[in-house]
Amino acid sequence: MTWNPGSWRSRPAKHQPEWPDVPALEQVEKQLSMLPPLVFAGEARTLKSRLADVANGEAFLLQAGDCAESFDGFGADAIRDKLRVILQMAVVLTYSSGVPAIKVGRIAGQFAKPRSSATETQDGTELPSFLGHMINDLPFSEGDRLPDPDRLLRAYNQSASTLNLLRAFTKGGFADLNRVQAWNQEFVASSTEGRRYQDLAHEIDRALRFMEAAGVSSSNPEIHEAEFYTSHEALILQYEEALTRQDSLTGDWYDCSAHMIWVGERTRQLDGAHLEFFRGIKNPVGCKIGPTTQPDDIVALCDALDPDREAGRLTLISRMGADKVGTNLPPLLEAVKESGHPVVWACDPMHGNTYSADSGHKTRHLDDVIKEVSGFFLAHQDAGTWAGGIHVELTGEDVTECLGGSASVNDEDLGRRYETMCDPRLNARQSLDLAFRVAELLR
Ligand code: PEP
Ligand code: CO
Repeated sequence: MTWNPGSWRSRPAKHQPEWPDVPALEQVEKQLSMLPPLVFAGEARTLKSRLADVANGEAFLLQAGDCAESFDGFGADAIRDKLRVILQMAVVLTYSSGVPAIKVGRIAGQFAKPRSSATETQDGTELPSFLGHMINDLPFSEGDRLPDPDRLLRAYNQSASTLNLLRAFTKGGFADLNRVQAWNQEFVASSTEGRRYQDLAHEIDRALRFMEAAGVSSSNPEIHEAEFYTSHEALILQYEEALTRQDSLTGDWYDCSAHMIWVGERTRQLDGAHLEFFRGIKNPVGCKIGPTTQPDDIVALCDALDPDREAGRLTLISRMGADKVGTNLPPLLEAVKESGHPVVWACDPMHGNTYSADSGHKTRHLDDVIKEVSGFFLAHQDAGTWAGGIHVELTGEDVTECLGGSASVNDEDLGRRYETMCDPRLNARQSLDLAFRVAELLR
């Protein structure tokens, strides 16, 4: 079966919008296909080699960001704050464990969501569900919920300016390790984990000053710049196809909408459109793995997505739920080990632990998140495999969407700052708390 960037079109695709005006969509696809790629194929190859280090047990993947990015209130501060908390987490992980953390954002493209129901009913009115800002809008009105292909262009433009700022921050001094203390935001600094971070930042500062005094490596780019990659769920294949380009160096096809893309738990059917698209691009790719996955399914997924058994190509993102990880993950670890696919195993401790609070807010408890991560590490320890990373939904802001943490967010706090477009995110303190726990597990 020959592959081309549009060969997915002959396969069934789940969780797709019903575009009301197909010629308008095709017009947008044409425009997108002529716009510059957002990332360069060589960068995707570098990320793949970093992920190969993870697959070999020599690095740890930190993949984090919004459940769904928003067009509203888009601006520099939110990007900076998100980057800052991811840098803080990476420093905690690296300094405490001695293992490099590979930083991949759920950012600059994370605009489309599969939903449990295609429609939503309020007061007897049925409308399409909110599918992410790449497709429609959140307010419950017919006009807002109608899929609009111009949103694909807006998603592209917002991704381009987000990436531009991320590149400026990570290469232009903001991410310099000499500024490690300045990443601690005020509302974090006063908390238990904020003070713990401050102590660690002091130690890093002392080590850097020592190196400087000893005349070692003060001009090393690893100190002054950070490597940061982008990723999203590739749900809307018209967008992904339009940004898929042939690399002039190798002749291979890369989806240049992001360095890494993943396929969701709900769209990873072996004979479906998403897997058909994924198999032909050379980016590093991820695949979500839920609690009903069987050992045979996972080996078939590995064969489809990683036929060449290439370390760094495939990241399996386990999202079992805190209560199921201990029983459901081990047979999958064994099956993949047996199959010989050198995958990265990452833990998404968010999507299996979501429930509705009494107030009606969709939430998650930090204790469940930590419990799932602990179970994930334990399963790997038993299997003799490497617990390679975490995949989390977070924000740098002081929101109250997830419960728990040292400055405990309780049920009655949820309404105070509940701002997510989709699933509840850890706030900066809870994220840092999680990083310290993971660092302990890594040690
Ligand atoms: C997500 O990562 O936001 C998501 C929808 O996950 P999953 O496919 O695992 O349900
Ligand atoms: Co989510």
